[in-house]
Amino acid sequence: MAWPAGRRITIKDLQAATDRGERWSMLTSYDALTAGIFEQAGVRALLVGDTSAEMVLGYPDTLPVTMDQLITMVQAVVRGTRTALVVADLPFGSYQSGPQAALANAVRHLKEGGAQAVKLEGGRRVVPQVETLTGAGIPVMGHLGLTPQSVNVLGGMRRVQGRGDAGEELLADATALERAGAFAVVLESVPADLGRRVSEALRVPTVGIGAGPHCDAQILVWQDMAGLTTGRLPRFVKQYADTSGGLLDAARRYAADVAAGRYPDQAHSYA
Ligand code: KIV
Repeated sequence: MAWPAGRRITIKDLQAATDRGERWSMLTSYDALTAGIFEQAGVRALLVGDTSAEMVLGYPDTLPVTMDQLITMVQAVVRGTRTALVVADLPFGSYQSGPQAALANAVRHLKEGGAQAVKLEGGRRVVPQVETLTGAGIPVMGHLGLTPQSVNVLGGMRRVQGRGDAGEELLADATALERAGAFAVVLESVPADLGRRVSEALRVPTVGIGAGPHCDAQILVWQDMAGLTTGRLPRFVKQYADTSGGLLDAARRYAADVAAGRYPDQAHSYA
């Protein structure tokens, strides 16, 4: 069975692809233009992630982004796409207090934003939230391993999670999320062997980001994938373009043309 062309991909399509052994990809997206490009490229699902706090809003971590800010971005990504499944992140503070807060905010993502699913961080401790959301008909993606909303407990954003005994804990968290109804689980910054073990243990797809080659799907922050972010990046990031260099060059040539009086010329002026 092929991917649907004339309608949005659903969580059932993602599960069917995983069941037939087909790997699929996700990217983050925060605006209509990039969302349309990624969908055209065959990226099946887009995450309006709380990484927008860093990538769009310029904060040092993911904590400050609000529901209102994310909903504006979710709306843009939905408007820019026709077939991609749009997953909206539940930001820090929007679900930790309990299932009712999670439900109220997840409903906003679907009703106001137009998303088809939500994502939240954590394992056994968020099972009540996952059960309440899935019970209300809201598809939930889990997120284990390096969970950036816990940066202040983890003590940094570069630490590989799940080594040694922590691997068993992570496996138990993943199983609990699946049992609670999660349709997929993101595994961030964990050893490849743990990524394999979790992927073998779960029926629902695992979505790896720094979790090795055995996950059912992969996700990257789009600015990392496209080389818009520069400097020291996590080992798992592969850059497929030099967008930063290309933009810098374009902006430099534009500024130089303006300074030299070469732009606008006649060809770019009205008669
Ligand atoms: O917010 C985000 O972009 C994420 C991905 C890195 C998985 O959670």
